[in-house]
Amino acid sequence: MPLDLILLGPPGAGKGTQAKILSQRLGIPHVASGDLFRDHLHRQTPLGQLARQYMDRGELVPDDVTIGMIRERLEQADCRNGVILDGFPRTPAQAQALDELLAGMGRSLAAVLYIRVRNELLLRRLAGRWTCRVCGAVYHIEFNPPRVPGRCDLDGGPLYQREDDTEEVQRRRIQVYQEQTAPLVSFYRERGLLVEIDGECSIPEVTEELIRAIEVRKAVDP
Ligand code: AP5
Repeated sequence: MPLDLILLGPPGAGKGTQAKILSQRLGIPHVASGDLFRDHLHRQTPLGQLARQYMDRGELVPDDVTIGMIRERLEQADCRNGVILDGFPRTPAQAQALDELLAGMGRSLAAVLYIRVRNELLLRRLAGRWTCRVCGAVYHIEFNPPRVPGRCDLDGGPLYQREDDTEEVQRRRIQVYQEQTAPLVSFYRERGLLVEIDGECSIPEVTEELIRAIEVRKAVDP
């Protein structure tokens, strides 16, 4: 059975950081709606130009656009054994659409891993984030610095700060998360899919907690 997982949590919780590690460990792709939008933006596609209007303000891109993009991605061959979804779903309509999409493929969610981090830590994490322009690896100036300042450990690529990481937009993203995405926590808890993870530990500790939680879920529902 494919292993379909969601990483849920506020901006800066560590979803992208952990999804990249889990993808390596579990051998399934990391599908991040934010990364897909940024790729469109970089290629200057019409979808990218549309998404930019929302991303620059920290608002959500409309559901129909986002769902269409994820549908296309999930239909690709590398997703057949499962996916680690990061940043999707973010609204009840997206959660509903995901259920339908997976059901249409004869699949269902294995677990929703909710990474909990207090608001006061989120801004500190986002303010210090640097990302590799080449491979997308994520660093933190204080918590996870690169070996050589400004260069990626993996490929030496230049590190940059995301355009939506100004303090004003970060605050708005956290607010939008509270208003529109946080309700998914109880939605998935009621369905018995939610596993809460303490996101305030070190990066390796969070990874081990996630792996343990996934193993437990796999044992319950092989
Ligand atoms: P998106 O790219 O998804 O951004 P986000 O949700 O705001 O999440 P982030 O990427 O900021 O945080 P993260 O949890 O991945 O943290 P990270 O691992 O980098 O979305 C961007 C925009 O796209 C949205 O605003 C919206 O406009 C649009 N969009 C995307 N999806 C959409 C959807 N489904 N619907 C509609 N619109 C959508 O970690 C952060 C920092 O902390 C890093 O520096 C990292 O090194 C550090 N760190 C991580 N873990 C730890 C730890 N345990 N200890 C110390 N430091 C840590």
